[in-house]
Amino acid sequence: MNLNFMKKLLFANWKMNPITESEAVKLARASDVKNAVLIPPFPFLKAVKSVLKNASLGAQDVFYEEKGAFTGEISPQMLKKLGVKYVVVGHSERRRLGETDEVIAKKVKAGISAGLKVILCVGEPLSVYKKGKKATEEFIKKQLKFIKDKKNLIIAYEPIWAVGTGKNANPEDAARVARFIKNIVSVPVLYGGSTNSKNTEIFLKKKEIAGLLIGGASIDAREFQKMIKIAERF
Ligand code: PGA
Repeated sequence: MNLNFMKKLLFANWKMNPITESEAVKLARASDVKNAVLIPPFPFLKAVKSVLKNASLGAQDVFYEEKGAFTGEISPQMLKKLGVKYVVVGHSERRRLGETDEVIAKKVKAGISAGLKVILCVGEPLSVYKKGKKATEEFIKKQLKFIKDKKNLIIAYEPIWAVGTGKNANPEDAARVARFIKNIVSVPVLYGGSTNSKNTEIFLKKKEIAGLLIGGASIDAREFQKMIKIAERF
């Protein structure tokens, strides 16, 4: 069965932050609510897990093999053993480093087979966005072409031009793209890209948007707490 969220969820993608384990633990304690998924860097997964009472744990990437000669990689089983429930795959910051749709497809498959809930990130660059709705939809359709297994899959719509720029997408546009995605793969769709306490409500009000994938605002404990308060109403 495909995933179906009971509540709107906030996914806190800490990226390569904070710098120390003690800061990570402090941030985790401040963000530990039921409708949050905390996604720290790999070295902090264990420490963060050990203090969580309510929030779930996520990881920022995963490799597609179980074990072996893959220097620097981390397997789905390794994550599972650490208590990880969710994993982000194909984030635009990884695609920018050269990750291809083929590699991403393998990661999605491996993550789902291992029983992880996979958050697959898709979204168009500015050049495509400027060409209009049709171009954006075509671009996203291509990114979703390889999807076969929908069980335990979540899609995060993150227009690349909105990630970390302070320029969020128009919520109407985000809802339209979320609808478009849901017509292709009927799974929960998140929005991500410059979300904060000021725009949380307007995005979460959209019925097509199941939650938010939050970068910058999620490592600011006060800001994230404000977002949590808003999300709790949905
Ligand atoms: P942002 O990042 O909220 O800082 O724009 C979102 C993301 O990268 O998931």
